[in-house]
Amino acid sequence: MNIDTLKATAAAMVAPGKGILAMDESHPTCNKRFEALGIPTTPEMRREYRTMLVTTPKLGQHIGGAILFDETIRDCVVDGRSFVEVLTEQGIVPGIKVDAGAKDLSLRPGEKVTEGLDGLGPRLAEYSELGARFAKWRAVYAITDTLPSQACFSANAHGLARYAALCQKYDIVPIVEPEVLIDGDHSIERSFEVTQHAQQTVFEALADQGVVLEGIVLKPSMVISGSEAKGRAGIEEVARQTLRCLLSTVPPAVPGIAFLSGGQSDEEATAHLNAMHHLGIELPWAVTFSYGRALQAAAMQAWNGQQDNLMAAQAIAYHRAQMNGLAAQGGYAAQMESPA
Ligand code: 13P
Repeated sequence: MNIDTLKATAAAMVAPGKGILAMDESHPTCNKRFEALGIPTTPEMRREYRTMLVTTPKLGQHIGGAILFDETIRDCVVDGRSFVEVLTEQGIVPGIKVDAGAKDLSLRPGEKVTEGLDGLGPRLAEYSELGARFAKWRAVYAITDTLPSQACFSANAHGLARYAALCQKYDIVPIVEPEVLIDGDHSIERSFEVTQHAQQTVFEALADQGVVLEGIVLKPSMVISGSEAKGRAGIEEVARQTLRCLLSTVPPAVPGIAFLSGGQSDEEATAHLNAMHHLGIELPWAVTFSYGRALQAAAMQAWNGQQDNLMAAQAIAYHRAQMNGLAAQGGYAAQMESPA
């Protein structure tokens, strides 16, 4: 493990005014989004769509890293250059999703544990050869009145920590992603309680496995009211509770925190991030974005599987990246959302 390499990669991923583009949808997830728009669910369309994203002019001004799916890291854009080459030319660090998905947790109805540790070492060695300098592993926690169980917290924390340690062995920065789901009618207080406990359990497990905190990026969900809750907390409250939680769980040695969007609307996700930089709280880590849907949804809709729409879609992709890049430094305002 080379700490300097890990630190340099993490610093590039969360450089000031930059965040991470999550474009690592598995085939079923990508197909679901394509089907909703009537786009054919073929490998060719996935290549064309992802080519549109990574060839967006000047994307690297606001994107420091891009998370790819296995299919894409082995693939070439439509003009024959590899995706890794195109990202590198844009100044964007290539990364790879390595978990094998969230599977049912035995004896715990309604709960998931993320799998993928078997054979992970050799896979990381191969991904490193292919150009990946960071990786991602996502754990999910559903909130109900009685869940998550301690079994869910500890199993997922163990998986994240074992994955993170393996990544660092191969000089790959692990994105550690404990996602507390927004689904449900829970209050923001309940979200706080679950998110804090998930993060505490994860950092204990990281310490147990000897993971070097200077060489990770945390990708948390925000502390937020459930999507079905009545009287959902406002933007400033989400920002305040999210930071209060993170300040209680995340050591200052961690270089960066990059949020997932988790079903928030594009503009909500941007406004929440921006608000975190307006609370007058000094933050020991870079606080930025690692959005999937909130960066891609509008661009995918504009593209709609038609090459004729390429430039319009890229303008929208650039706009969302720019808005979030500004928000990561507190420089965003809703009035900037003029149609791209
Ligand atoms: P969303 O921003 O769409 O939640 O996706 C981020 C991600 O990478 C989930 O693992």
